[in-house]
Amino acid sequence: MAKGLDVGTMNIISARQDGADTVYVQQRNSFVEIEYSDMAEQMLSRSDVLHIRKDDQVYVVGDDALDFANIFNKETRRPMQNGILSSDEKSAIPMMKLIIEQVVGEPDRHNERLYYSSPADPMDSDISTLYHQKTLESLLDDMGYDAEPINEGMSVIYSELADNSFTGLGISFGAGMTNVCLSYYAVPVMKFSVARGGDWIDTEAAQATGTPVDKVTSMKEDDFELNFRTDVGGVEGALSIYYENLLDYVIDRIVEEVDEEDVEEGLDVPVVVTGGTASPDGFADLFRDHLDGADLPFSISGVTHVEEPMYSVARGGLVAARSDEEEQQATAEPAEPAEPAEPAED
Ligand SMILES: Nc1ncnc2c1ncn2[C@@H]1O[C@H](COP(=O)(O)OP(=O)(O)OP(=O)(O)O)[C@@H](O)[C@H]1O
Ligand SMILES: [Mg+2]
Repeated sequence: MAKGLDVGTMNIISARQDGADTVYVQQRNSFVEIEYSDMAEQMLSRSDVLHIRKDDQVYVVGDDALDFANIFNKETRRPMQNGILSSDEKSAIPMMKLIIEQVVGEPDRHNERLYYSSPADPMDSDISTLYHQKTLESLLDDMGYDAEPINEGMSVIYSELADNSFTGLGISFGAGMTNVCLSYYAVPVMKFSVARGGDWIDTEAAQATGTPVDKVTSMKEDDFELNFRTDVGGVEGALSIYYENLLDYVIDRIVEEVDEEDVEEGLDVPVVVTGGTASPDGFADLFRDHLDGADLPFSISGVTHVEEPMYSVARGGLVAARSDEEEQQATAEPAEPAEPAEPAED
């Protein structure tokens, strides 16, 4: 067996194969700290709520954090920010350890192959992804996995562009980041990230309209569409403006980076847009329109939207891990018995 793991700023998702089906397990990358009380104990014992107790405090982790935060009137906290472990959050590592253990489970055998997503270094900020990447690797290795990082954009290529010989431009629009990778026959020729994604859209739209950021996020996730028929001055209008701004920002960075990397000219490149932030109807059309005007040295054969944008990255990690395991098995198989030597003729 083999597994893929998407370690995201908002969601941690694992993927594994079960017969013909791919099975995903997901938790919110979030927690809340509450005081230990009789009421808390009662709520915690009732269900399979992920939590750790430390002296008089209880940390409720993952999907249940938001419910507990509402009931106990607390704020949720997030172990990651802008695609990597948050340096402001001292409890980040134990919280993520608990979530990851629940989402991937025990390895099926010692040293089971697992690819976990890791962002490329962002081009618009000086944060480095190295510490984040190495910390996750040792956490997963300690659990008994043979863990290897996979670039988040490359994971999109593995997941969505297998039918096109792993050639194309894969873009994952997440919460904390947007990751871009241009691959040519499974070789990444350009990869980068920008430290903007859904969180940036939410914060900007909240600030512009004087609306609490959680309200903006839930309006965006509910049934927001990028159709530009929304009312001027409202939250949806502001969301559309910042969505459009994010797309232009990402496209400008692609143009800059393609120029710098001397990418081969004359290719015909399919583009895949995915990640939670790519969910609203109209997203791929808007991206296609804006990409049309961009000055690129290659042509775009199409912009595709993925059916389940939340799962692309985890699935890409699974594809990579399965392919490694198949290769391992092929090399481990006993060699064909040697042909008996022809009897020497007298
Ligand atoms: N239906 C929806 N419409 C719009 N946005 C959505 C929808 N569902 C989720 N999102 C947004 O998608 C983002 C989460 O996406 P995703 O899980 O791909 O990010 P992540 O992998 O956790 O983050 P990152 O890759 O940046 O570390 C959040 O900003 C969330 O608000
Ligand atoms: Mg992501």
